[in-house]
Amino acid sequence: MDLQGGDIQQPGTGGRTAQALAGRRILLGITGSIAAYKAAVLCRLLKTAGAEVRVVMTPLAKQFITPLTMATLSKNPILVEFFDPENGAWNSHVSLGEWADCYLIAPATANTLAKMSCGIADNLLLTTYLSARCPIVVSPAMDLDMYAHPSTQENLQRLAARGVRIIEPAEGELASGLTGKGRMAEPARIAAYVGELLAAEDPEKKKSLQGKRFVVTAGATIEAIDPVRFISNHSSGKMGYAIAGALAARGAQVTLVSGRTSLPTPPGTKRVDVLSAAEMYEAATAAFDDADGAVMCAAVADYTPDTVSETKLKKGDGELCITLRRTRDIAAELGARKGGRLLVGFALETHDEQAHAEAKLAKKNFDFIVLNSLRDAGAGFRGDTNKVTFIDRCGREELPLLTKTEVAERIADKIQSMLN
Ligand code: C5P
Repeated sequence: MDLQGGDIQQPGTGGRTAQALAGRRILLGITGSIAAYKAAVLCRLLKTAGAEVRVVMTPLAKQFITPLTMATLSKNPILVEFFDPENGAWNSHVSLGEWADCYLIAPATANTLAKMSCGIADNLLLTTYLSARCPIVVSPAMDLDMYAHPSTQENLQRLAARGVRIIEPAEGELASGLTGKGRMAEPARIAAYVGELLAAEDPEKKKSLQGKRFVVTAGATIEAIDPVRFISNHSSGKMGYAIAGALAARGAQVTLVSGRTSLPTPPGTKRVDVLSAAEMYEAATAAFDDADGAVMCAAVADYTPDTVSETKLKKGDGELCITLRRTRDIAAELGARKGGRLLVGFALETHDEQAHAEAKLAKKNFDFIVLNSLRDAGAGFRGDTNKVTFIDRCGREELPLLTKTEVAERIADKIQSMLN
């Protein structure tokens, strides 16, 4: 979901995400980071989507963005201190926490994250965190070394283990002049995340796939050439992980058969790590036996080295030829034996997209196929957005550019409607 800019027309805050935000109460916590200027755009995006926004700031945050700006945008007074020094009126952290449907801390500094993980409560933003019963989302922003520091990573892990949602920072230029991971996610991405979270919190939706079992394959396979080298591809696994998470959030039992990735396991899923296409075949077919359906999102190698050298291949003067043999097509295998189960496939194409996708739909016996073209800006590997078209035997449905999380929600919606 790495969207650029904060314009309200950006994908992710349009349509369904905006609907999910309408009428919801967002408590926006702002801490002392240079990224605090983005909180103004974020506040405006949330307001435009129909959310009610109240803002709590740490004392240091006031140095980065003025309370006047945030009060004007949120149309509510800004809360910083435990009480108003003028008249002694108490700012109740308990009632603030009760009021909110979501407490979003953006930007969240290393300092605030550390205090949250230890339960330190020396400002209103932190006491409110300790009292809040609603979902908590943090959007870290800091220098790359601070973000990578083991203490920050441990704090984030502790918070995640306690259910705090973390919006991964982006890579890019930082205020320090260095380049790396630590930039606060763009406001449109954060607003979209909160919208999706609130939509997923809908109690009806939470159990809409209860009792159903799915297999989801995700990520790239790795085909060894020798103990050091391998053949693989650029798949990050983000799309498949988002789908596994979306199905699990609706109450389904999900086995996520995953190639190598650094992504965290989506809550509620059972993850089976594999490396090669052959291992993925074994894990996916075994899990499919008891399943109601499968989503084949992995980028599986079509060819693997015929033999794997036991020792590192030494370079010579001439060319090196490696004989490749075909791997087994996992999706086609599941398609052949699927019976009444639901099978969803993916097609990543570079040309003649529609024709290729339709051919795969038929050949692999998919119920529907999700087509994405590398020709579309914002689609494909690594990024956080995707532009897809659903194709089934009744026709096609072209979706706008959406975050991968939103695409996953649409896929889960379609699976749900096809199963019923
Ligand atoms: O034929 P192609 O690889 O383009 O087909 C893509 C679809 O088939 C995806 O759903 C992918 O996960 C699946 N697939 C598979 N096993 C393979 C190759 C592709 O499950 N060996």
